[in-house]
Amino acid sequence: MAKPLKVGLAGLGTVGTAVAHLLQHQRDTLTSRCGRSIEIVAASARSRSKKRDIDLRKLRWFADPVALAADPGIDVLVEVIGGAGNPAKRAVETALAAGKPVVTANKALLATHGNALAALAERHGVALNFEASVAGGIPIVKTLREGLSGNSFMRIYGILNGTCNYILSRMEQDRIAFGDCLREAQRLGYAEADPTFDIEGHDTAQKLSILASLAFGTKVDPAAIYVEGISSITLADLDAAAELGYRIKLLGVAVRTEGGIELRVHPTMVRKDSAIAQVMSVTNAVTVDAEGLSPITLVGPGAGGAATASAVVADLADVARGVRAPPFGRPAARMTAIRKAPMQRHEGGYYIRLLARDRPGSAATIARRLAQQQISLESIVQRHESWPERNGRPGRSGEPVPVILVTYATSEDAVRKALAAVRRDRVISGRPQVIRIEKN
Ligand code: HSE
Repeated sequence: MAKPLKVGLAGLGTVGTAVAHLLQHQRDTLTSRCGRSIEIVAASARSRSKKRDIDLRKLRWFADPVALAADPGIDVLVEVIGGAGNPAKRAVETALAAGKPVVTANKALLATHGNALAALAERHGVALNFEASVAGGIPIVKTLREGLSGNSFMRIYGILNGTCNYILSRMEQDRIAFGDCLREAQRLGYAEADPTFDIEGHDTAQKLSILASLAFGTKVDPAAIYVEGISSITLADLDAAAELGYRIKLLGVAVRTEGGIELRVHPTMVRKDSAIAQVMSVTNAVTVDAEGLSPITLVGPGAGGAATASAVVADLADVARGVRAPPFGRPAARMTAIRKAPMQRHEGGYYIRLLARDRPGSAATIARRLAQQQISLESIVQRHESWPERNGRPGRSGEPVPVILVTYATSEDAVRKALAAVRRDRVISGRPQVIRIEKN
């Protein structure tokens, strides 16, 4: 029997303890699958004495994860500390520079320093595996990096943030306003105490930056992504979406276009009968449009100890077997800068909700401004009683009237110009709501 793979585990929070449990629980299976056992021999965390559901007595203890990473007694570092900065970054760099493979669940680290870390891993001829960093238990990194290495990718899109999907699902199914759903998500432990990172789309953007690099061979660059969150979505939008045959999801989308790679995170109308629209609550999903295949959708748990541990342990199994793919599926020198398609050139259908001032000529002015930008309308609905904020009370003459427009394919630039003109004309009240429609 080959020698055991000796693991140094940096981080003993929810994920770290779940990794220890899974390695214990699957011990025999993993030994049989990998031809050798995988054993945690050393660990590091902020507190040694904190009550945990694992036995630390047999492990060597390091107060400093960087010292753990440098320890000659470990073969591989598992980094589940989190955060783009130190100590996670130094620990990972130290292990790689010492010629030790690294398994990490740290999307922030990958999104911020992925290019340099991949180059470092390559220089030292070791693996840098990060399956757990995107969509938790869904094996999307391996799917893009290895499972589909013979295919070109046209588009990757997905629900990559469980908190947002939970909020949108609750709003739609139980007719609860955004703020109440968010408080509930926080109470259930889905959302962070400061939930901005989740609900304003930044968590999704970090994950999308990693997927885009795997799919298109571009350098990881979250700053290239256009980001809008879900905090402006109302029950009126969800009702209108349902009537029109759509659901609203926060999607991360990466598309190859003639003008470059489009990278965007925003609330999106998806057809109600599409695979991605069926994904509710905290569940994540990713659809891959690859040449020569009909779209593949992977659905599963995107967060939580067990799901994340499943991805970490699979990455460890690759290390134990001696399987090593380049971190982003190609040598670091082959990763190119993103040729980013500007958001203004995005083309697609749009849902637009306006509050039109109820006076003669408002509708005609709106229609004229859209026509001036060559925007053609697929549907237009103006209905006082469909407005949930009125609680069934009929609208009175003179009150602003909700108008819902659905456009045929047009450009972001045309929509922005038309709506800016409509606002200048003072025929609407407040800001228009704009939600892009994704073909799926
Ligand atoms: N806050 C993230 C989510 C956790 O809600 O999906 C997983 O990255």
